[in-house]
Amino acid sequence: MSNVATLTVNGQTIELPIIESVEGDRGIDIRQLRQKTGCITYDPGYGNTGSCKSAIAYMDGEKGILRYRGIPIEDLATHSSFVETAYLVINGELPTREQLNRTSVQLNDHSLVHEDMQIFYQNFPRASHPMGILSAMVNALRSFYPELIASDKDFEEVYVRLISKIRTMASVSYKISRGHKVEYPRPDYTYCANFLNMMFNTPVKPYILRKELVRALNVFWILHADHEQNCSTAVVRSVGSAQTNIYASISAGISALWGDLHGGANQAVIQMLIDIHEKGVKVKDVIKRAKDKNDPFRLMGFGHRVYKTYDPRAKIMKKNCHDVLDRLNYEDPLLDIAMELEQIAISDPYFIDHNLYPNVDFYSGIMLRAMGIPTNMFTVMFAIGRLPGWIAQWRENMQDAEQRLTRPRQVYSGYTERPYIPIDER
Ligand code: SDX
Repeated sequence: MSNVATLTVNGQTIELPIIESVEGDRGIDIRQLRQKTGCITYDPGYGNTGSCKSAIAYMDGEKGILRYRGIPIEDLATHSSFVETAYLVINGELPTREQLNRTSVQLNDHSLVHEDMQIFYQNFPRASHPMGILSAMVNALRSFYPELIASDKDFEEVYVRLISKIRTMASVSYKISRGHKVEYPRPDYTYCANFLNMMFNTPVKPYILRKELVRALNVFWILHADHEQNCSTAVVRSVGSAQTNIYASISAGISALWGDLHGGANQAVIQMLIDIHEKGVKVKDVIKRAKDKNDPFRLMGFGHRVYKTYDPRAKIMKKNCHDVLDRLNYEDPLLDIAMELEQIAISDPYFIDHNLYPNVDFYSGIMLRAMGIPTNMFTVMFAIGRLPGWIAQWRENMQDAEQRLTRPRQVYSGYTERPYIPIDER
């Protein structure tokens, strides 16, 4: 296989080196392209553009493969915990028992948020979306912990604090939005158990932890921990490339994740399913709308920029969803609608021709709903899971000697030079 690409532009042929990968796509190195040809590339949405070399996650979109640091997602979902997977994603290796215990102790030690932060939460309008609050409050961590910059010396303390505090911040936001007393983390609870307890324990009705739900939450967050150069991760890297601190970089990633086409899809799926259920819309009519080029409606939770087959996470999430509903003896008509939609869609020529299959968001909301998580917090749940990936990717970018300030070019489509016309002559 050649290690150079040849390109002919205006009769001039140049050679461009090919960057070899360990697996998957090789990259044509175009860093000399403009200098050699006067042309740039054009790739809206960067669907064919590699922004970096990365060793964190590997996806094969055609085969439906996802691995974190080489370990298949299926094995991690079966055998690992979210804390262990977060350690793997950030540090590159599975922790020893001693390392895992140390990390668990650190997560507990840093699980509180500054009491003054509650004043911020109390002053957000009640109808504020939790993603907007989370993005603002993660950014505010820089103000509350100015001593902590993510230099190599402090990096472990910075990431542990972030991972520990984000679940506390999410539960504080929920409690205050409901006018309830904030529930503090418990030193005797694991990461996921603590989150559920902080969310749902109340002085009048103690929350009864169920190990099946704690396990389901671990699996949910394992499935979300990283996903190569997705939209929000690309934003975290891009903001970090300006040497912006990690809190502001993650805050920007949270904002990008909020969008319906990205992490906001898990909330949009439930709203779509509720709409179908409440209006009694026929599933076949929904499929018809999704296929109609003149209709902006899209089947939320379906399709993916990389996966051109079933999202491997969606397979696990679907099983996780069924297990939780069975354990809770919870009948949800939305699950029946989702399964009918999937059944019809995956055998429909339009969806087959467009390689549209369920993605991680299609079943996740039904499980979260059964667990009592409010719909407007579904994307917050995604953000908590994705945080280890954002942290790992931000650091990899900072440590990559080949990385520079993100600054794409453009193909200009506006006016050529023209004179300024005084206002009375326009
Ligand atoms: C996530 O990148 C990641 O890794 C993201 C993520 C992660 O873990 O970080 O996996 C998380 O964001 C999952 C995706 C969640 N979003 C949704 O479920 C929203 C619904 N899906 C789509 O809008 C869409 O599939 C995207 C945004 C996910 C991907 O879109 P692309 O790759 O930009 O493709 P496109 O919009 O150009 O669509 C290609 C064709 C079009 O038809 P044609 O004009 O070519 O005929 O497929 C059609 C689209 O109309 N299409 C759909 C569709 N998704 C694509 N048609 C109907 N329903 C859909 N859901």
